[in-house]
Amino acid sequence: MNDWDVRVTVNGVPHRRTTQARTLLSDFLRHELGLTGTHVGCEQGACGSCTVLVDGEPVRSCLMFAVQADGQQVETVEGLAGDAELSGLQDAMMREHGLQCGFCTPGVLMTLTAAERAGCSAEEAAGPQLGGHTCRCTGYAGIRAAIERHWSRRKDS
Ligand code: FES
Ligand code: FES
Repeated sequence: MNDWDVRVTVNGVPHRRTTQARTLLSDFLRHELGLTGTHVGCEQGACGSCTVLVDGEPVRSCLMFAVQADGQQVETVEGLAGDAELSGLQDAMMREHGLQCGFCTPGVLMTLTAAERAGCSAEEAAGPQLGGHTCRCTGYAGIRAAIERHWSRRKDS
């Protein structure tokens, strides 16, 4: 018996699926739930593209089995924007041209969202937090400018 019953809440929506024990959380999100905003790059935990939040913590979804997320809350990039507007971070990324091909962007946004919630400074966000992500387009200048813009807007509000 290799099939497991997985119940998981993703972006506030409860899901229940039967899946193989070996199914990665990244594949579960993309192929079972159709949430293709989570990208898969290295599949080795190195690039950060597949980062999602599980119970609020950033995780590499290519290193986690879907069954390990059973009963937990998962957040993906699809859950960041409201019905009519982007999240503050998404808006800053757009305005500062923080993405080129956009492949790394969902993972970067999820890590930065967790960093923001944890009260990280802009320096921490642009340094160690962003350091866990590989942008193949070498677009870090724009991402750092977006972090600067977003964190300074928060200070001013
Ligand atoms: S695809 Fe998961 S860390 Fe690269
Ligand atoms: S924008 Fe292309 S990989 Fe980062």
